[in-house]
Amino acid sequence: EKGGHEYFMLKEIEEQPEALANTLRGHFVDGRVVLDEQRLADQDLRDIDKVFVVACGSAYHSGLVAKYAIEHWCRLPVEVELASEFRYRDPVLDRDTLVVAVSQSGETADTLEAIRHAREQKARVLAVCNTNGAQIPRESDAVLYTHAGPEIGVASTKAFLAQVAANYLVGLALASARGTKYPDEVAREFAELEAMPQAVSTVLGTAPQVRELARDLATAKAVLFLGRHVGYPVALEGALKLKELAYMHAEGFAAGELKHGPIALIEEGLPVVVVMPSPKGRAVLHSKLLSNIREIQARGARTIVIAEEGDDTVRPFADHLIEIPAVPTLLQPLVSTIPLQVLAAEIARAKGYDVDKPRNLAKSVTVE
Ligand code: M6R
Repeated sequence: EKGGHEYFMLKEIEEQPEALANTLRGHFVDGRVVLDEQRLADQDLRDIDKVFVVACGSAYHSGLVAKYAIEHWCRLPVEVELASEFRYRDPVLDRDTLVVAVSQSGETADTLEAIRHAREQKARVLAVCNTNGAQIPRESDAVLYTHAGPEIGVASTKAFLAQVAANYLVGLALASARGTKYPDEVAREFAELEAMPQAVSTVLGTAPQVRELARDLATAKAVLFLGRHVGYPVALEGALKLKELAYMHAEGFAAGELKHGPIALIEEGLPVVVVMPSPKGRAVLHSKLLSNIREIQARGARTIVIAEEGDDTVRPFADHLIEIPAVPTLLQPLVSTIPLQVLAAEIARAKGYDVDKPRNLAKSVTVE
């Protein structure tokens, strides 16, 4: 059942193009992006004036990506919160607030309690879930299923990618319902999403190169990850994967924060993974990251750079370059995450750890 793989996780990494295609399938109907279940009137969606995304772990990182897309497409303020924090604050919610609960299992206790808390205050709840009929979708006003298929590996890979994709669909569904985008614009964005499974297949081709790098990094004491804009949540996700699987100290940072503290950590030989935005996107983002790489390389870091193919500007500063296909700026996490998943799994394998069942962790966390 592992499809010739030593671990389920490696199989699940390879299944990502298909998982992504399944998440998108059937969601563009008559010029609109639609949800799977909607127990709310369209008018309720039009009245929404604020969005909270609540989730834990990798699902939270997918929510951070959603913030960039939903704000851009829907012109709605979006806050992304760890479910465990949201629950015990006093968030300001009412019937015009949409709380998007993202959960692979649909049973995560913190996320479930967060939506109960939200509903008590009349907020509307939309679940993004991978498990049909789980508790979180049952207690929600609307549901978008990720359709990634069952995930056995404790570390989320294909379910994470499907969450990112489903969150884009939430953004487009809101834009459709609220009329902030015309049907032809929604169609164009959806077509760009539909091209992503192919791009993910291409990036899976970097696995042998990443495996080789992983053997080299297995003895490192720590690894840092830097990203900006949608690359920031990718950096956080890369670091979480490495902690979970390889039990290494790993931290993700917003690249702009470097000089506010983390640069003090840089020392000779420290591996730093940098997620570069497309050079064809916002030039300022790209040039800012380029100067970050220069700074850390000048201080002796070993730079591992994930960059768009043909981005030759990074070459002089990359000790190790991993090339990913050119995709629209907002969608880049769907490809840039893949080498980081492979890196963590392969470092864990090189260290002889159980990739599918990392120590101390459960697949579904049903206690707060
Ligand atoms: O089932 P959920 O999506 O609610 O799970 C949330 C987290 O527990 C989960 O993403 C966890 O962080 C994974 N082990 C990450 O690989």
